[in-house]
Amino acid sequence: MPEAGRWDAVRLDGDGFVLRRWRADDLDALLRHADDPAIVRGLSDRFPNPYTRADGEAFLAGEVVDLSQPVLAIEIDGEACGSIGIRAPGSGERAHAAELGYWLGRAHWNRGVMRRAVSLYVPWVMDALALSRVQANVLDSNPASAQVLLACGFAEEGRLRAAIRKSDGLHALCVFARLRD
Ligand SMILES: CC(C)(COP(=O)(O)OP(=O)(O)OC[C@H]1O[C@@H](n2cnc3c(N)ncnc32)[C@H](O)[C@@H]1OP(=O)(O)O)[C@@H](O)C(=O)NCCC(=O)NCCS
Repeated sequence: MPEAGRWDAVRLDGDGFVLRRWRADDLDALLRHADDPAIVRGLSDRFPNPYTRADGEAFLAGEVVDLSQPVLAIEIDGEACGSIGIRAPGSGERAHAAELGYWLGRAHWNRGVMRRAVSLYVPWVMDALALSRVQANVLDSNPASAQVLLACGFAEEGRLRAAIRKSDGLHALCVFARLRD
């Protein structure tokens, strides 16, 4: 497990964005971008909608995802407007693998931001944590996310049929993974 604070100074400069640690003063920006039903449609139920101030505070306090992991804000024009991170790698025989997650505020969609963010973040995090495998699970109703992963060297490995129930019914979960080059 990474020690607390290990990632505090991380700053990855991308084309039109910066990846850096979430900060307590990101709360208002987080609420502006996260409180959107279009975002939660692609994500697990852990991402609430409506997204309240209390939800934002809990996230920034590390009570929702493990912020001792390299979970980074996507900053555009000085404002945090999305997130990219991995869930804690497994242990023992699974310590080489971790799960990727990301979201971006709707105002910035379809400009290639997430493709560039994933391309920057994944090789970096694989090196930083000595990972051999990064996996991402995508709902079958989320072609934009599948496109992002395919463009970033992930391969689709299979589908877990009827794995997730959303308000519009059952969905398959498509498993994508990228292995160390
Ligand atoms: C998925 C998400 C991260 C994509 O971010 P983004 O910055 O808009 O992605 P990009 O612009 O880099 O790439 C999107 C790609 O999907 C394509 N796309 C968008 N909508 C599409 C659709 N309905 N059908 C097919 N392709 C679509 C775009 O054309 C683009 O492909 P291209 O680069 O080949 O043209 C963003 O929509 C989001 O945050 N969604 C909500 C949260 C989420 O779903 N997270 C992922 C969970 S697995």
